[in-house]
Amino acid sequence: MTRSTRWLYLLLLPLAVQAFQQPAGPSPAQLAAQADRQKMMDLLHIASLRQGANGNDPQAPNAANYDESKANPFPNLPDPLVLNNGKKVTSAKMWWSQRRQEIVELFDREIYGRVPKNVPKVKWEVASTKNEMNGDVPVITKELVGHVDNTSYPEVTVDMRVSLSTPANAKGGVPVILEFGGNPPGTGRGFGGPPKGAPKQPAGPTWQQQVLAQGWGYAEIYTSTIQADNGAGLVQGIIGLVNKGQPRQPDDWGALRAWAWGASRALDYFETDKAVDAKQVGLEGHSRYGKATVVAMAYDQRFAVAYVSSSGEGGAKVHRRNWGELVENIAATNEYHWMAGNFLKYAGPLHWNDLPVDSHELVAMCAPRPVFLSAGATNGDGWVDAKGTFLAGVGAGPVYKLLGKKDMGTSEFPAIETPLIDGDVAFRQHSGGHTPGPNWPTFITFASRYIKTRS
Ligand code: GCU
Repeated sequence: MTRSTRWLYLLLLPLAVQAFQQPAGPSPAQLAAQADRQKMMDLLHIASLRQGANGNDPQAPNAANYDESKANPFPNLPDPLVLNNGKKVTSAKMWWSQRRQEIVELFDREIYGRVPKNVPKVKWEVASTKNEMNGDVPVITKELVGHVDNTSYPEVTVDMRVSLSTPANAKGGVPVILEFGGNPPGTGRGFGGPPKGAPKQPAGPTWQQQVLAQGWGYAEIYTSTIQADNGAGLVQGIIGLVNKGQPRQPDDWGALRAWAWGASRALDYFETDKAVDAKQVGLEGHSRYGKATVVAMAYDQRFAVAYVSSSGEGGAKVHRRNWGELVENIAATNEYHWMAGNFLKYAGPLHWNDLPVDSHELVAMCAPRPVFLSAGATNGDGWVDAKGTFLAGVGAGPVYKLLGKKDMGTSEFPAIETPLIDGDVAFRQHSGGHTPGPNWPTFITFASRYIKTRS
């Protein structure tokens, strides 16, 4: 060590020690989320919430469970085909006129929250149009901005952003797969990409190129332009705009419902664009956006097909399963904003088994439309619970059958990489980690039975 480096070392040492001694405190946004969640707990008279599973430390007392023998403390799911009054649903007519409405109401009130009646109108603008190449396919890409009318509360501005690309040589409107993403390019970190240090995806066509190879288009909706992905943002975005900057009521919508609402507004625009066949728009999303995908598909019957990737707890995984992520994790300050305030009850005074509906009924809300459920291997994607996702597909089966469609054909959890795609509710566990990548070809095979380029 030279004299000068020694001096530098001595000068910097105290700073380094200090940095180690002071754990970084919560950020202002985290504090705001904590305060907002506490307000909701007070409103619901909830004294405390149970701790979630620890997904990082297998030695922790609350380590996430990955042992199937402990995974089913509540093996009986609510029957999707029994009315609240105990009567059996015996016809498609009863499903549509009575039971589906009951299920929607329960998801609205207890799980994802209600879309308010007075959400302002959205005015779509094509901000730019350009001709470009994706691989060797010429495409036309439009950047769209959905301006939400904020005259009721000008303090909050919501300009939703969507990017839409369709094959330039298409004769008429084409099917489009709409993906949920986080931030518009160049505006910060998004979620859903491969985790740091993950092995590189094998070289090959991107999902957009795979979709183009079918003659379809692709689109991306940027959720952060609809509703922020944190509790602090609940007084902003579309939720904050409608609430005029005030905190939510217990059955108000959470971020998942808000993102799904945004996808429905994008579909409104697609209905006006001749480049799109709006009757053949599919949805795809991974992880938190896998949750948004199944919610959007369940609530808006105009969407034709969905690829629900690694949606896990709060998505297609059944809440009653003890595997990986739990209801309690979703109730934590970094995730509670996805859901209705009422959902907190099930991580405190009530338990998973008290939920009046479970995720198989969310999948059932998608029926008779085709849904593909996906997850990766336990080693790499165990947190999302592939089997709990499969069970939601199984549980939705009776509703698909009642509506004249096919269930998955088995209630036996299949070997990894077995595609169950002969029915209208489909499943495959791929052998990769937390990624949608490996299941794109299977999804496209499944989806192409339903959506087709007409010209
Ligand atoms: C966390 C969270 C999951 C979520 C995921 C993601 O792991 O626990 O529920 O799906 O983040 O969106 O990346």
